Amino acid sequence: IQLKDKHTFHIPAIAKWFVEYDSVEELKELLASEWIKDKRFLHIGSGSNLLFLGNYDGAILHSRIKTITIKDETERCVKIKVGSGVIWDDFVAYCIDRGWYGTENLSKIPGEVGASAVQNIGAYGSEVKDIIDTVETIEIESGEHHVFNCIDCKYGYRNSIFKNELKEKHIVTFVTYCLSKQPIYNLSYGNLKTAVETKGTINLRNIRNAVIEIRENKLPDPEITGNAGSFFMNPVIPLFQYSLLKEKYPDIPHYPIDNEKVKVPAAWLIDRCGWKGKIHGGAAVHDKQCLVLINKNNATSDDVVELSEEIKQSVKSNFNITITPEVNFIR
Ligand code: EPU
Repeated sequence: IQLKDKHTFHIPAIAKWFVEYDSVEELKELLASEWIKDKRFLHIGSGSNLLFLGNYDGAILHSRIKTITIKDETERCVKIKVGSGVIWDDFVAYCIDRGWYGTENLSKIPGEVGASAVQNIGAYGSEVKDIIDTVETIEIESGEHHVFNCIDCKYGYRNSIFKNELKEKHIVTFVTYCLSKQPIYNLSYGNLKTAVETKGTINLRNIRNAVIEIRENKLPDPEITGNAGSFFMNPVIPLFQYSLLKEKYPDIPHYPIDNEKVKVPAAWLIDRCGWKGKIHGGAAVHDKQCLVLINKNNATSDDVVELSEEIKQSVKSNFNITITPEVNFIR
C-alpha cells in the first residue's frame, strides 16, 4: 500500500500491509492472531511526526477508535475519555464548544489522540501532560489492558515512558483528560497574550483563533506542503554555556528549565547559521520557521536526511550545540 498520503511529509513509500481496527476487541484479536506473529509492524496516528526512509517491509497499524465519553463531571472539572483515533484538533474544537479549558493552546496541532499521549505534544506554553489523567493501553506481547496514571507516563519535553522503557511495547487505546470548567488560561508564551487581546476579550474561542493564526503564519499546511512540524527538538544547554552565548548574541531567546539548564530555540540557532529557505534537492528549510523542513518539490527521504545532517553539523560547528531530530526516522 502506498503511504504517501498516510503521513504528512507526503514522500512516497510502500508498506506491505495497512491494517485499521475500530475497537479494543478488534485490536486484541489482531495482536493474538497468527497472521501478525511473524510480521514486523509499526503503529501510526496521522503520521505527522514520521519520515519513512524507504519502503516498510511490514504492517502499518492504525486506530479508528473514535469514541468520546464523559467519565466524571463536577462543577469545576470534567474527565473525558477519548479514543486514540480521534483527530486531536477535532477534540480541541469539541472542548472549546463546551467551554472546557486546557486544550486551547494546543489548537491545530496535527495528529491523533493516541500519539498526543506518546509524544507529549506541546505548543504556546502548554503540554498535553498538563491535562492528562490516565492513558489506557494494550500490551502488545500479552494483549493485556493497562491503565497508566499521568505520573506513570514519566512525561518530559516531547517524551514519555512510551518512547523509552515501553517503546513499541504498548498501544494506546484511550486517553482520559481532565479539563477545567472554570477559566484558567496560560498566555505566558511569547506574544500570545497580545495576539488574543487584539481579538477582544480573553476567552477560549479567541485564544484558539489567535493560536491558529500564529500557527498559520509560521507553519506550512501539510496538506499543501509536506512537512512534519518541528524537525528538531529545542536543545537544553547548561546555563554557563547560555551565558557565554548571550554575551556574543544578546538577542538569543531562551526558556528557563531550572537553576542549571535552559532551553534555546533550535529555530533561532538554525536561522543564525543562515539556513532559512535553503533548498537541498526536493527538500527545503521553511522560509518562515527554520525548524520545519519541507517537501518542496518531490523530495526523497534522502534529500530530507541529508539536509537535516548538514543543518545539524552547522549548528554544532557554529554554536557547539547538538540538536536532535524530533521526527522519527522509520526504516
Ligand atoms: N525563531 C527564529 N527563526 C525562525 C523561527 C523562530 O529565530 O525561523 C525564533 C523566534 O523568534 C522565537 C524562537 O525562535 O524567539 C522560538 O520560535 P517559535 O515560537 O516559533 O517556537 P519553536 O521553539 O521554534 C516550539 C515547538 C513547536 C510549537 C512552538 C510554539 C518544539 C520542537 N517546537 O517551536 O512545536 O508550535 O514552540 O509553542 O518544541 C512541533 O513540535 O512540531 C511544533 C511545531
